[in-house]
Amino acid sequence: MRCEPLGTDVPYFPYPLESSEDGLGYTICNHLMSSHIQLDTQAAEVLRLADGEKSLSDIIVHLDKVYPDAGGSEVIGTKVIDLLRKLSSSELIWWRDIPLSSVPVPPPLSIFWEITSECNLRCLHCVVSAGEKASTELSTERCLSLAEELASLSVQNIAFSGGEPLIHPDFLIIAEKIQKLGMSIQVATNGTLVTPSFARKLLDLNAQVQVSLDGSKPEIHDRFRPGQNAFRRTITGIRNLIETGHQVTIASVLSTNNIHDIPAQIKLAEDIGATSFRLIPFVPKGRGEAHRDMEVSTEESKEVTLYLRDIREKTRLNIASLEFEEMLDNNIHSPQLDPNMPLKCGGAVSYATITPIGEVLPCHFFEGVRADNVQSTDFHEVWCCSRFLNYFRHLRVSDLHGKCGSCNWLSTCAGSCRAVNYAKGDLFGGNHACWMNQEI
Ligand SMILES: C[S@@+](CC[C@H](N)C(=O)[O-])C[C@H]1O[C@@H](n2cnc3c(N)ncnc32)[C@H](O)[C@@H]1O
Ligand code: SF4
Ligand code: SF4
Repeated sequence: MRCEPLGTDVPYFPYPLESSEDGLGYTICNHLMSSHIQLDTQAAEVLRLADGEKSLSDIIVHLDKVYPDAGGSEVIGTKVIDLLRKLSSSELIWWRDIPLSSVPVPPPLSIFWEITSECNLRCLHCVVSAGEKASTELSTERCLSLAEELASLSVQNIAFSGGEPLIHPDFLIIAEKIQKLGMSIQVATNGTLVTPSFARKLLDLNAQVQVSLDGSKPEIHDRFRPGQNAFRRTITGIRNLIETGHQVTIASVLSTNNIHDIPAQIKLAEDIGATSFRLIPFVPKGRGEAHRDMEVSTEESKEVTLYLRDIREKTRLNIASLEFEEMLDNNIHSPQLDPNMPLKCGGAVSYATITPIGEVLPCHFFEGVRADNVQSTDFHEVWCCSRFLNYFRHLRVSDLHGKCGSCNWLSTCAGSCRAVNYAKGDLFGGNHACWMNQEI
């Protein structure tokens, strides 16, 4: 934000306001930056008006009309600017130079649908803290009506996740509906529930299946799922899928637990007949917050990025690249930076996550942000009107600071995935997962 906002600048407050415990004021929680602030009712009124549509002048004129005895627009203006400036310094107010409604919001192409929070494994690092079914999960009836609405919005692809999606008693009913509506289906599963007959049903749905396998042997994979014989059960599930004719992707969360096991995992994926292999960087969120020692250093992740690039030519597996692979080639020159370039993240733009209780989030790593909900509201209304989604989708590279703000690669990576930064309460700072960040 410039030091002194102009009257035409548009302030935007992206969070819900909650009454404070004493009932006298309001609490605002900036989930993105892990901070709480108490406000009185007057300040809360200003924040309600900071809806991304009204300019600073509009807000002052409005308050002057509603409170004619408050000392006039100059006095009101000084107080409003003081308040907004204070909140801007805690990243609670975000300034734009045009109203948000001037940018159309097309529907998403893909939905990551966490259909239940129930899970039979309860991995110690699970980013969504899956385990028990939540008492307010969307009913099957609501899931079916939601599927119809998503199809009517021309959503192309539904990627089921959870918790463990296959544990949901009506998974097949919901998935069949989605297939009939013409949307393609992906499933992220721990694989332990995939019997030969379930694999057949998934094939009938034309579902692309990704199975989580974090190690090439039980000692590694089961370390974070102790005492459940998970490795053997997951391997059986993968075999059942492959024998039925599925093209399986094996996904492994890259951590200190398995970093030296990656070559063996790739060998196992080849031997078992998988089609693709991908590494997912560990994000210290959910139950993972208690296992920060699982985080690999940025130097190590650079080494793994190099390894994956080199091994790609030597294997028949499709090996997904890790973030920042394109920057290994120092000859690439980053184009001139356009400060209005959107962030690379497609969350709230081309895809969104629907949580088991119906919250709509940019992606599952933002679990915990108080989001708007499709329990009893149409998806389209939440998609277009949620203050948080609107905020997120309008972030620009110029909103980033720290090392990203001064990095020559910003126009190439556009800030990349912000999940680890979010987990560390530093959404806009230098990318914590980026090895370039250390080299600047
Ligand atoms: C939450 S799981 C749900 C689907 C299914 N139960 C499974 O394990 O694949 C979805 C994906 O998130 C990954 N995941 C879990 N915890 C993570 C963490 N702390 N950081 C990054 N990815 C994580 C899993 O490995 C899996 O690929
Ligand atoms: S990562 Fe998947 S299998 Fe593990 S607890 Fe979370 S939802 Fe369950
Ligand atoms: S430091 Fe930031 S801008 Fe530079 S390459 Fe890494 S993520 Fe991109």
